[in-house]
Amino acid sequence: MTPVELPEGVVSLADHEHHARLVLDESVWAYFNGGAADEITLRGNVQAWQQLQLLPRVMRRVSGANTRVNLLGREWPHPIMVAPMAYQRLAHPHAEQATALAAAALGAGLVLSTQASTLLEDVARTFLPEAARGPLWFQLYLLPDRGFMQTLVQRAEAAGFDALVLTVDAPVQGARDRERRAGFRRPPDITAVNLAGRVAPARRALQQGQSALFDDLMTHAPTWDDIAWLRSITHLPVLLKGVVHPDDARQALACGAAGLVVSNHGGRTLDTMPATAALLPRVLQAVAGDAPVLVDGGIRRGTDVLKAMALGASAVLVGRPVLHGLANAGATGVAHVLRLLRDELEIAMALTGCRSLADAPGVLFATGP
Ligand SMILES: Cc1cc2nc3c(=O)[nH]c(=O)nc-3n(C[C@H](O)[C@H](O)[C@H](O)COP(=O)(O)O)c2cc1C
Repeated sequence: MTPVELPEGVVSLADHEHHARLVLDESVWAYFNGGAADEITLRGNVQAWQQLQLLPRVMRRVSGANTRVNLLGREWPHPIMVAPMAYQRLAHPHAEQATALAAAALGAGLVLSTQASTLLEDVARTFLPEAARGPLWFQLYLLPDRGFMQTLVQRAEAAGFDALVLTVDAPVQGARDRERRAGFRRPPDITAVNLAGRVAPARRALQQGQSALFDDLMTHAPTWDDIAWLRSITHLPVLLKGVVHPDDARQALACGAAGLVVSNHGGRTLDTMPATAALLPRVLQAVAGDAPVLVDGGIRRGTDVLKAMALGASAVLVGRPVLHGLANAGATGVAHVLRLLRDELEIAMALTGCRSLADAPGVLFATGP
């Protein structure tokens, strides 16, 4: 059975998560919700937003307030975007099309994964006609087959995507213990359809003492030189996702990155990285307002969105909760997740006296002296 109606009693993202666990296969659940190793970063992301506190201002006039944001030279209805997530057909047969339909209707941005299980052209055709839509970006991993990658970028341009997001924090998969324990295997009929036809690099013959990771796999990992190459083959802005060190942030801008996403891949790559709420201020300081800085990881409440904006983010990306909504009720479920977040953001703004998100920094409770 394909669920398309909202289950009763689901009124928060946590409720969506709880219900999704009941409808998803155990190994798919482990793939979606699991993180790397001991999942310290996975948990830390959520906790860090929870631990930040808001200090309301009262009796301010907030009638006519709005959630609008400016990003890459355009104004959008609100700062909530769907993070790139692979193989959404595992959650629901309507897959990325349902996510795109819901995001477009709710004015949310959408970052489509390179490893989507739906053609990028089909997603663009669903998303772009919505007048009140948010941004539509295409996420890339650096592919060793550069000719194929160039064609993929040209397809994203032709389909009408607004920007490219190169993910730089996952040159290899993290040690995802929960997923391996559950024996997760992607079903053969769910594939990265946009990558069909690419030539996988030949495995290198290793000498004794060489490492399969360092002497083969990592020889294809992205380096700073690749940013110049990517920029040379596209007229779209290129953002980098997974930059967390201030020096890397400065280097990214020097290489012409149009923006950054502070991310630890939702705790799926290197465990024991700091939470993104802790990383964001340092990156913002390094960037010094020269480019938009977005953040993802552990955003589960409208108050989390307000806190991210208060720290100085330009927008936020939301990952797993979207998959939970998709599993629970297809497009209706994703729309509900995004609606909940947006409603909670508006309530939090009203209760803290923010007329716009530019007021957000003033309502963050500063601890310490
Ligand atoms: C199932 C799953 C698949 C993902 N696939 C991708 C991907 O293809 N590309 C990418 O850049 N990030 C990918 N991510 C990471 C997300 O874009 C995002 O950084 C992370 O999920 C945010 O954390 P959150 O899930 O706590 O909101 C994936 C995350 C999940 C949970």
